[in-house]
Amino acid sequence: MQIGLIGAGNMAGALARGWGRPVLASDGGSGRARRLVEQLGGEALSNAEVAERADILILAHKPYQLEAVAEQARGHAKTVVSVLGGTSTETLQAAYPGAEVFVMIPNTPVEVRRGVTVHVEGPHSGARNEVLGLFRELGVVVSVPEHLAGAATALSGCAPAFLALVAEAEIDAGIRHGLKPWDAENLVIETLAGTAELLLLRDRDTLALRREVTSPGGSTARGLAALEQGGVRDAFAKAVDAVANK
Ligand SMILES: NC(=O)c1ccc[n+]([C@@H]2O[C@H](COP(=O)([O-])OP(=O)(O)OC[C@H]3O[C@@H](n4cnc5c(N)ncnc54)[C@H](OP(=O)(O)O)[C@@H]3O)[C@@H](O)[C@H]2O)c1
Repeated sequence: MQIGLIGAGNMAGALARGWGRPVLASDGGSGRARRLVEQLGGEALSNAEVAERADILILAHKPYQLEAVAEQARGHAKTVVSVLGGTSTETLQAAYPGAEVFVMIPNTPVEVRRGVTVHVEGPHSGARNEVLGLFRELGVVVSVPEHLAGAATALSGCAPAFLALVAEAEIDAGIRHGLKPWDAENLVIETLAGTAELLLLRDRDTLALRREVTSPGGSTARGLAALEQGGVRDAFAKAVDAVANK
């Protein structure tokens, strides 16, 4: 199955490196498509050529470029997968009439095959198994109805940035107490990775995990209380609202 990527930026690169096989790719003139195919094999081509030769065409340009790109690519592509944030199935179908369209929103950990991809449910038939199978190679696929796409994207597509900010705040706090940056980074990032693994092992029970770590009246309890007082829940609620309500 030949994958074609229109756009060769952060998301296209993460997907292609996750799949780890030759791709057809285009860009807006920066030369990033050529650099990507030098790494992975494949060919750097024009948008129309990528659309014509790909079995599955992945749109990985910016959302506002949809119409300009579609003018060059439509008519060629049979199966179009959009990873464009905030772009509905209806908008996509209008840009690519006659093609079977899919809205899939991956996150950047697809690069290490630990990604989460939001699949926006649509009236799919033909290529559904191939498209979902392709993204399952890169981690988990979660299907949601269109009205929940924004909230789901906040919890996955945007979340690597949210969690990186949380990690950065913890690292900075450790450094303020005198830890060396490398040690602080190691402590925080390995703890994030280990906690995620443990949560999966414990059926995702966040409360049980917190209770295991928190002795009554102990230091973790004091730290948690400080986080609650600092408004951590409210801050995350507002972040998800900001994404979902756009
Ligand atoms: N980054 C994420 O974590 C993430 C998560 C979920 C969804 N997304 C979605 O993924 C898409 C790409 O985001 P990104 O972060 O990868 O952006 P990016 O790094 O800026 O990459 C955009 C790519 O599109 C190319 N492009 C621009 N105009 C083009 C044209 N006319 N024809 C062909 N290619 C064109 C750019 O070309 P040049 O290289 O020449 O500039 C660049 O390679 C966005 O729609 C975003 O909503 C991103």
